Amino acid sequence: MTKTMITGVQPSGNFTLGNYIGAIKNFVKLQKEHNSFIFIADLHGLTSYQKPEDIKNRILDLAALYLACGVDPNYTNFFVQSDVNEHGTLGFLIAFQCRVGELSRMTQYKSKKEKQGKEGIDLGLLIYPTLMAADILLYDAEVVPVGMDQKQHIEMTRDLGERFNKRYGSTFKLPDYYIPEVGAKIMNLQNPTEKMSKSAPIDDKGTIFILDDINITKKKIMSAVTDNDNKIYFDEENKPGISNLISIYSAITNKTIKEVEGMFVDQNYGTLKKEIASELERFILPIQERYNNYRYSDNLYKILNKGAKEAEKYASKKLLEVREKLGIKY
Ligand code: AMP
Ligand code: TRP
Repeated sequence: MTKTMITGVQPSGNFTLGNYIGAIKNFVKLQKEHNSFIFIADLHGLTSYQKPEDIKNRILDLAALYLACGVDPNYTNFFVQSDVNEHGTLGFLIAFQCRVGELSRMTQYKSKKEKQGKEGIDLGLLIYPTLMAADILLYDAEVVPVGMDQKQHIEMTRDLGERFNKRYGSTFKLPDYYIPEVGAKIMNLQNPTEKMSKSAPIDDKGTIFILDDINITKKKIMSAVTDNDNKIYFDEENKPGISNLISIYSAITNKTIKEVEGMFVDQNYGTLKKEIASELERFILPIQERYNNYRYSDNLYKILNKGAKEAEKYASKKLLEVREKLGIKY
């Protein structure tokens, strides 16, 4: 039977090459073989304060970008999370099945809480995984393409789904994460032991934003931090900068790490960087063009509305089943 696949991305920050390689690329590759859902996780985006006007624009920006990156509404139900009420409701019901302790031990919670400092509001961060579990369990999704940083959340989703099934009888299918072999974690070009993050400022020299001017992107590649060894091979521990560049090249050209190593055996770092810069140009320019076509077209709203209606058909059925199991459907 065709498996269901789902993934989501928050409308915060600016979409990076890391987001594309870690999440969207795989989704696009797999969308036709699955019953596919992809959504903009706007509720998750509310866990850090953003101006309402900004969040609204980012939802539309991201939607246009996803389509430009190859999400195909003919194969995929593409929607905004908050347009399907069942996500919030199931997230709430799942939170009732959790202990504070298990949620407060989650890696992302701990690191984000620290960053927010004393003034931060952290209940949203604490229950972030319960909403994410609801996103996945609502559709009986079994395949969840995400970057490495989300692995723990998928494991938590399995645990919570299993817990519910044990207490109330078989209700949810349990998901597996799908982490790409290459590019599971694209690193910052200036600081290659840190993840390339979309919350980086737009002028961050180590972060490639897909919608940035291509000349700026090329400059960022040319000034990426490397090492003094001047040999091109993959070794994340001792050569994090070069290994990251190899991963990027391999992901955008669909070549294996071995193939890339082979291509650049006798080359120097400058050649590798120039080659990546020109491949990136070839890869990014058409995305930017398609993005511009979608962003201000009515078609964008039509696609999102249709996706939400379709998603709701599945989600409402599942929520009804959950209510029945819980005894709150009379
Ligand atoms: P986020 O930007 O944290 O909302 O993440 C959206 C998706 O992109 C998630 O599946 C992440 O795991 C993935 N992702 C984000 N940054 C990277 C990165 N630097 N390398 C690989 N995947 C990433
Ligand atoms: N938490 C994910 C991230 O930051 C986004 C997300 C929300 C998600 N709900 C999801 C990803 C469900 C996969 C499935 O990247």
